[in-house]
Amino acid sequence: MGSLEQRSPTPSLVEWEYVPAPEARDLVRLRERYGLFIGGEEVEPLSDEWFASISPSTEEVLFEAAQAGPEDVDRAVLAARTAFEEDWSRRPPAERAKFLFRLARLIQERSRELAVAESLDGGKPIRESRDVDVPLAAAHFFYYAGWADKLEYAFPNRRPSPRGVAAQIIPWNFPLLMLAWKIAPALACGNTVVLKPAETTPLSAMLFADLCRQAELPPGVVNIVTGDGRTGAHLVRHEGIDKVAFTGSTEVGKLIMKELAGRDVGLTLELGGKAANIVFDDAALDQAVEGIVNGIYFNQGHVCCAGSRLLVQESIYEPLLAKLKRRLSTLRVGDPLDKNTDVGAINSRAQLEKIRELVASGKEEGAEIFQPECRLPERGFWFAPTLFTNVAQSYRIAQEEIFGPVLSVLTFRTPAEAVEKANNTPYGLSAGVWTEKGSRILWMAERLRAGVVWANTYNRFDPTSPFGGYKESGFGREGGRQGLAPYLRFEEVA
Ligand code: NAI
Ligand code: MG
Repeated sequence: MGSLEQRSPTPSLVEWEYVPAPEARDLVRLRERYGLFIGGEEVEPLSDEWFASISPSTEEVLFEAAQAGPEDVDRAVLAARTAFEEDWSRRPPAERAKFLFRLARLIQERSRELAVAESLDGGKPIRESRDVDVPLAAAHFFYYAGWADKLEYAFPNRRPSPRGVAAQIIPWNFPLLMLAWKIAPALACGNTVVLKPAETTPLSAMLFADLCRQAELPPGVVNIVTGDGRTGAHLVRHEGIDKVAFTGSTEVGKLIMKELAGRDVGLTLELGGKAANIVFDDAALDQAVEGIVNGIYFNQGHVCCAGSRLLVQESIYEPLLAKLKRRLSTLRVGDPLDKNTDVGAINSRAQLEKIRELVASGKEEGAEIFQPECRLPERGFWFAPTLFTNVAQSYRIAQEEIFGPVLSVLTFRTPAEAVEKANNTPYGLSAGVWTEKGSRILWMAERLRAGVVWANTYNRFDPTSPFGGYKESGFGREGGRQGLAPYLRFEEVA
């Protein structure tokens, strides 16, 4: 029995190491510099200015991108205008569909590379970029490819025609997916585009430029200008645009509205949110816990429709909180390229500071903080999954968008009180309802002032389903048949 005695004691607190995903870093061949994509070619910026894009999980510089100035924006708009008038708007719609189908298939073909690029540049877990961002981006191109030659069926008796040049400004939380939400419907409707990615995440857009070349998309139909908010402002100010689609902060959304006041430029805004995720006492608690976790810790909480306010019916407050805290302790925070990571890096130092500031305000105002024990990497930008209890509706953490992995928990007694609390926000993008009763779901959905209401699920997306806000969350819808309308002009037929 000697061999038994030599066995080491039960390995209770062993450090488990997981095998890395096949989505390895070297799938993306990074160049030192990426220029602007204008008129089908990559060009150096006339501004002669460049900026670095870093990996938020290591803080290493990955590459440099061009900071497009006014002349660069001018060049891009001109290229889009020429392509619109001389080519794209004149093509038979089925031809446009062909290119969209090609782009969709190319996204699928190069999905691993795109997923790695997204996680490297933006810090989101590879599991999410691989299973959510990239497949959904392809799905949007497939979906809108199908509409390209059926617009008169989408809008009977209204004779739709394209608007012209669409200026599209996107954020850093879902870089490739937001690109797809913007570009696919615009092209399907016969518009050409100038797209500006966010300054912390330009990589997947530059790879998309490569896909456009690979698809032999006519030059100038898609133009991509990188740069920070200044580039976005030049684009919105440009006289040659016919439509602006913006996703980002409410603050910048308001600036854009002011800029466009009195101009014949169509506008859709998809802005922030402070969604309520509402759990009734008859809900399946374990499923609800998964939905709450998915609702706020998915993509580090960098989600406009994140379920950042949990409203729990008082009678189940204690068991639900106990389950939720236990579940939080199992979340793995760390390397975005590790397929077992649940919570990746915070997108930028600025965003991390914003989260820290709001969390400090929560403590100061009197809320009780809970964070599971977890070791955060030394380099890079990280924030542990956090929840606050003892939160009053007036606290900043219950009112302002934190855009980080931070949940505020409040309680309610009756459905009417849940509705009142849920709607007590300047925003109105989304909400979640957890209950066994179908009638209660409908009752709630009717009263919640939110563009999307999920029932017994959260953060579900589908290209066929419209998405957009009420109040300060913006206006206009993206996705679905409704997502075509902002890219069209209509001539009513008697
Ligand atoms: P932001 O609104 O400044 O950035 C979004 C995009 O707008 C970026 O491409 C940026 O370069 C561009 N931009 C900035 N200033 C502009 C201007 N004056 N004219 C035209 N374009 C401009 O958002 P930021 O500073 O990155 O994040 C701040 C907060 O905004 C976040 O903490 C979050 O609360 C919210 N946000 C909401 C998003 C959403 O999905 N609705 C996405 C990103 C941020
Ligand atoms: Mg970056």
